[in-house]
Amino acid sequence: MMKKLMIAASALMVFGAVNVQANEGENTYKAACFACHGTGAAGAPKLGDKAAWKPRIAQGLATLDEHALKGYKGKTGFMPAKGGRADLSDAAVKAGVQYMVDQSK
Ligand code: HEC
Repeated sequence: MMKKLMIAASALMVFGAVNVQANEGENTYKAACFACHGTGAAGAPKLGDKAAWKPRIAQGLATLDEHALKGYKGKTGFMPAKGGRADLSDAAVKAGVQYMVDQSK
């Protein structure tokens, strides 16, 4: 009985952590990425624009994370490091990348 309860509790904790991460990505996006990626300003690939994201996603998440963290000059414009938000943690930026990728494929 006790053991079952503990398993249920730890399953809830894992589930909670996943939810927090998804929310963190959305929060990062809204706070720091939306200005460009919500509108396509400055040549940014728009959230949900599958055609624009497909070749980018094909590079792999590690490359996308690196470009988002360190900044990236590509064919369509300039992505500032962390979207210009140096105060964001690497984890928050990566969660933002994951959120945009999930919404755009
Ligand atoms: C000032 C505008 C601006 C902001 C703010 C911004 N981006 Fe970008 N981002 C761009 C532009 C422009 C590109 C396209 C660069 C290119 O490919 O020429 C881009 C591209 C990207 C790419 C694709 C990189 C690749 O290799 O194709 C990722 C991932 C990304 N941004 C993540 C983010 C995240 C995460 C945030 C928020 C923390 C963010 N961006 C905020 C302008 C911005």
